[in-house]
Amino acid sequence: MADAPFSRNSKKVSFLAPMQDITDAGFMRAVAERGAPGFAIAEYFRIHEYYELEPHILESVLLNPQRVCAQFIGENTEYISKAIAQIRNCYPQIKMLDLNLGCPAPKVYRKNVGGGLLRDIPKIAEILRVMRSEWDGCLSVKMRTGFDSDERFAEIFETVLAGKPDFITIHARTVKQLYKGVPNYSKIAEAVRMCDIPIIANGDISGAKKAREIIESTGCAGVMCGRHAVRNPWIFRQISEELAGLPVFEPTLADVRGYVDALRANIEASSDRMKYADSRLKKFLNFVGTAIDPDGAFLYKMRRAKGMDSLLKVCDEFMLDGGNAQKIFPQEPYAGVCSRPNHEL
Ligand SMILES: Cc1cc2nc3c(=O)[nH]c(=O)nc-3n(C[C@H](O)[C@H](O)[C@H](O)COP(=O)(O)O)c2cc1C
Repeated sequence: MADAPFSRNSKKVSFLAPMQDITDAGFMRAVAERGAPGFAIAEYFRIHEYYELEPHILESVLLNPQRVCAQFIGENTEYISKAIAQIRNCYPQIKMLDLNLGCPAPKVYRKNVGGGLLRDIPKIAEILRVMRSEWDGCLSVKMRTGFDSDERFAEIFETVLAGKPDFITIHARTVKQLYKGVPNYSKIAEAVRMCDIPIIANGDISGAKKAREIIESTGCAGVMCGRHAVRNPWIFRQISEELAGLPVFEPTLADVRGYVDALRANIEASSDRMKYADSRLKKFLNFVGTAIDPDGAFLYKMRRAKGMDSLLKVCDEFMLDGGNAQKIFPQEPYAGVCSRPNHEL
């Protein structure tokens, strides 16, 4: 059994959150170039009878296997054992493995995996018993506070602790809250009081100041950022500067334009994505756009751009032209500017 590569008493850590179809190796590189997080969890491997360790996910773990956790989502311990053996034998450089107890997509949780497992506490115990006995490396769990309420949080958390993970990440929302409900960070403080392993706080850690507030108010060992890192890839650098009491780096909109180029290059490097490169870039710009202008004009125009050239022209207009290049990219999104008005994210 290995310990986490950080402890409750060491320097506070930061994590890039796993995000399916977003946090591939190229995205991780684009973030690292702007101030790497301490650690990351990769998109999940769906473990079932015919599972495959998808090459693009493996690539993101193998990018930095001491610091990127592989993640499993699944409930069948026979297949989970098989996948652990495959990782042990074929990819011994992978050191960290995480169990997903949080995915809220109905088509996932209805199969009693991800967030669905929070309704089946004995099953959580069974899965962790198998994972702990067969995985020598660092084992972690990424969980939510409950399924449709956080009333059973203590019971679920005790069960997770009994599985002897080396650290636990808590997304401070229930499964039913999806990605929008107000996070209940008091559950993170409760978890910290209940154990002595590191607890990582997750859920709307939108900037460096908020990260410091959550660390101070909960006693957690670190923070994990997902969507806010897509908007602002400098967030991990800013968090470590804020925690060290140093001046916090302020990127300009020209720096953001450089980030857009890095995202585009990553998308275009993959031939199967070339055809839809502009719609794929828009997926990222929906997050970035919440901090470009207070009226949401960039988002409005960006969503209507047709083809890569006109999309990049809209980026130039708002990030470079007419003196915009020198403007500071704010650490927090503008109030009321919504990344995807009709979506849960
Ligand atoms: C598009 C998207 C995909 C996600 N995929 C995963 C995943 O594969 N595994 C996982 O544990 N969580 C996944 N999550 C949840 C995030 O890791 C994180 O817990 C959640 O977004 C809350 O953090 P945030 O407010 O910083 O974004 C995903 C979230 C989003 C928005």
